[in-house]
Amino acid sequence: MRHFLNISDWSALEMEALLNQAVYLKLEWQNGGNRPVLGGKILAMIFQKPSLRTRVSFQVAMKHLGGDAIYLGPDEIGLGKRESIPDVARVLSGYVQGIMARVFAQDHLMQLAQWASVPVINGLSDDSHPCQAFADMLTLYEHFGALRGLKMAYVGDSNNVTFSLGEAAARYGVELRIASPQGYQLSAEQVAHLRNMGLALTLTEDPRAAVEGVDCIYTDTWTSMGQEAEAEVRRQIFPPYQVNADLVRLAAKHVVVMHCLPAHRGEEITDDVADGAHSLIFQQAANRLHAQKAILVRLLSH
Ligand code: CP
Ligand code: NVA
Repeated sequence: MRHFLNISDWSALEMEALLNQAVYLKLEWQNGGNRPVLGGKILAMIFQKPSLRTRVSFQVAMKHLGGDAIYLGPDEIGLGKRESIPDVARVLSGYVQGIMARVFAQDHLMQLAQWASVPVINGLSDDSHPCQAFADMLTLYEHFGALRGLKMAYVGDSNNVTFSLGEAAARYGVELRIASPQGYQLSAEQVAHLRNMGLALTLTEDPRAAVEGVDCIYTDTWTSMGQEAEAEVRRQIFPPYQVNADLVRLAAKHVVVMHCLPAHRGEEITDDVADGAHSLIFQQAANRLHAQKAILVRLLSH
């Protein structure tokens, strides 16, 4: 049984095929609609955290492909509380053809995948956000026409999005520089894992050094879901890592600015940059739909 839990589970060749599939499905949709290749198939969507993009784009993707999706919010199934994860996985497998889950612990995704007899898709965990990173590569590919050799700087908190961007960058030959303050960097284990995947990775605490000459600057919230109690402390630490016009000026002239959203305008990104000529943030958000269609077709149509 194939799942989409981490990009590193998928080879570079598979990720290339997935990208081509996403480009194809987007074109097909723009030319009048997708064929109903997932006709009659249902996706269960488990959310232990809030969501706008992930929830809506998966639901719309299933509809466009002829199937349907069911939203299961934090109060509905009590994953691992009202009912054990192995039981939830086996019960859902009797009703639906795929499970998408947004959870806290990555291990909960692993357990779902272990016990489900249908594919499981990672819709974000504390550790990773592979659907986001894959959609971001689609956006960069559309913008630049190729991915290999692009230079990306991630500025801010090294979080779930950073880690999955690193995996995606490794698979597509993108060079990654990460600028994060001490205490908010990827773990030594994550860094070793990304370098083992072949990622050209530079780590620094200096955002200005990181963005010098890059093709893309990427940032995300300073406080991820589940870390709300640390928000005040983080607000004191992260201001030097704000993506603003001064920072953008140090990158290549053609630089694009990316953010997975939701944005905390005035914190990790300023309004002028988020809404400015370099910003790809809404194209990124839109591409979640097309990227995830490719994942769904690949996993659910067999
Ligand atoms: N980027 C992203 O995953 O957004 P949501 O949290 O709204 O799903
Ligand atoms: N790092 C953020 C991403 C939200 C899509 C979080 O986990 O809250």
